[in-house]
Amino acid sequence: CLQVATNVSEQKHNVTREIRGNSLGLCRGFRGCTIWLTGLSGAGKTSIAFELEAFLVLHGIPAYGLDGDNIRTGLNKNLGFTPADRQENIRRVGEVAKLFADSGVIAICSFVSPFAEDRELVRKIHKDAELRFYEVFVDTPLSICESRDVKGLYKKAREGVIKGFTGITQDYEKPENPELIINTDGYTIKESTQLVINLLQEEGIIL
Ligand code: PPS
Ligand code: MG
Repeated sequence: CLQVATNVSEQKHNVTREIRGNSLGLCRGFRGCTIWLTGLSGAGKTSIAFELEAFLVLHGIPAYGLDGDNIRTGLNKNLGFTPADRQENIRRVGEVAKLFADSGVIAICSFVSPFAEDRELVRKIHKDAELRFYEVFVDTPLSICESRDVKGLYKKAREGVIKGFTGITQDYEKPENPELIINTDGYTIKESTQLVINLLQEEGIIL
C-alpha cells in the first residue's frame, strides 16, 4: 500500500512554457502534450506510437515514445498485471508523461491501459496541469489481435500459462469518449499514424 507524502508543496519553475517553446526543437512554439494510445495487446499501439515519434522527430519536433513493454523493464519493473498493478503502472506513466509534456515534448504513450478509471486519472493529471491530452483508441478487434499473435501471448493465455490476460481472462473497458478511434484492420501503420497526425494538425499542435 502506498505511503502518502506529507509536508511537500509545489515549487514553481523560473522557465515559462513560452520560453521553453521558443528554445526547443526546430519549430518554435510550445507543443507539449500527451497522446495516449490504448487498446488490446497486439492492436498496433507500439507501431503507431513509434511511427508517429519518428515523423515528429524528423520534422524537428521533440517527441518521445513511452511504451508498456519498455517501461515495464525499467521504471515499473516491480509491477505485474493485476488490476491494482496496472492502475499503479498507468498512474506512474501518467505522471511521467505530464513531466515530458510540461517540458515541451510531445509524449506518446502506448499502454493497454484497460481500465477507464485509470485513463480518466491520467486525463485529470493533465487537465490539472493545463496540458493537452488526447486519448486514442486503437480499436483492433480481439479476433484480429489474436490471429496476429505477434508475441505468442494469446496462445499462452488460452493455454492458461499467462493469467489475467487482457481480453481473455481480464477485462478491456473500451473508451467512451476518446479524441480519436483508429480502426487498423486493412490499413497500413503509416495510414493509421496519419490519422493521429491529422488530429495534431486540427489541434494546431503541428502545422
Ligand atoms: S497495462 O495494462 O497498461 O498496465 O499494460 P502495459 O504496461 O501496456 O503492458 C502490456 C504489455 O505487456 C505484455 N503482457 C501483457 N499484456 C496484457 N495482459 C497481460 N497479462 C500481459 N502480460 C504481458 C504485452 O507484451 C503487452 O504489450 P502489447 O504491446 O500491448 O502487446
Ligand atoms: Mg506494444
